[in-house]
Amino acid sequence: MHPPITLLGIESSCDDTSAAVLRDEVILSNVIATQAVHTRYGGVVPELASRAHLQNIIPTVHDALKQAGVRREALTAIAFTRGPGLLGSLLVGTSFAKGLSSALNIPMIDVNHLQAHVQAHFIKETPHDTTQPRFPFLCLLVSGGNTQIIRVKSHNHMEIVGQTIDDAAGEALDKCAKVMGLGYPGGPAIDRLATQGNPHRFTFGKPHVPGYDYSFSGLKTSFLYLLRDELKKDTHFIEKNREDLCASLQKTVVDILMNKLYQAARDLQTDEVAIAGGVSANSGLRRAFEEYSHRYGWKIHLPKLAYTTDNAAMVAISGYYKYLDRQFGSPGTVPFARISVTR
Ligand code: KG4
Repeated sequence: MHPPITLLGIESSCDDTSAAVLRDEVILSNVIATQAVHTRYGGVVPELASRAHLQNIIPTVHDALKQAGVRREALTAIAFTRGPGLLGSLLVGTSFAKGLSSALNIPMIDVNHLQAHVQAHFIKETPHDTTQPRFPFLCLLVSGGNTQIIRVKSHNHMEIVGQTIDDAAGEALDKCAKVMGLGYPGGPAIDRLATQGNPHRFTFGKPHVPGYDYSFSGLKTSFLYLLRDELKKDTHFIEKNREDLCASLQKTVVDILMNKLYQAARDLQTDEVAIAGGVSANSGLRRAFEEYSHRYGWKIHLPKLAYTTDNAAMVAISGYYKYLDRQFGSPGTVPFARISVTR
């Protein structure tokens, strides 16, 4: 048994500033400061995001340590998101982690944000939590920037089985939501309205992409063409049909995601299947996972809602496994705007 490892995790890849404290695999605190400033622009404005991170990072770290009841001097190491993400935003977390680790004379650990989403499944709420997936397992990572099926062989070893060749699923949902006037990000609004609509009312073109890859740009176009044609006949078409449009769109996205995931799980003979990323909060997708679990005997892993969006708890757990492997960053470590889940 090693002495307890207490890690501070820092996440600043996009528009959420987050700090978390983890002791071994058990989460002690996870504080998230979201940035309301982007709402009025209909999307994240990179320059505003990095400025807001600068304002938020010290109080967020302070709150995380306070909630955890941990003093700075008790930290073993600091984990931070190195990428992928917005470069200006990443720079804030990276620089802060470098400064604090140097002041405390403890290691810093650079974390891949995509791996961290997957590793969120290993966060324990209590020391006796035994719900973690068993290796190897498949994880559908589905967010605003990514849609990938990942084969997870061990904590620090992942390979991509399939991925989108164009838009991510969350991006397609957000764009369709925008043309319906649902604001940004539109995924949660579509989810909410879909619960009151008929998912069989409208049908949209489904992609024909070989292997386990995805495509969502055709669906987006098919959705836009339907609106264009119907709005010519009735200018109130969207208001009158919003719920059915959302339910049908969501069902199509979920069907596309599940079909490829099912094929991959069948061919790779895996029945341990997880989901991660912002779109994993979607109630239709979660329901589909439950159905596949009953039908095909899948052992499913659905993250707690707090771990679906960007958060530092997942950065801390990812840093923990890298700490055990002695994979540390250095003062020369720089952020990456783009980086694969396999690196
Ligand atoms: O992982 P994430 O927080 O960061 C990015 O990759 O940007 O994912 C954000 C994405 C957005 O596209 C958002 O619309 C989507 O996740 N999202 C949802 C839901 N909650 C968030 N999509 C569908 N249903 C939801 N409940």
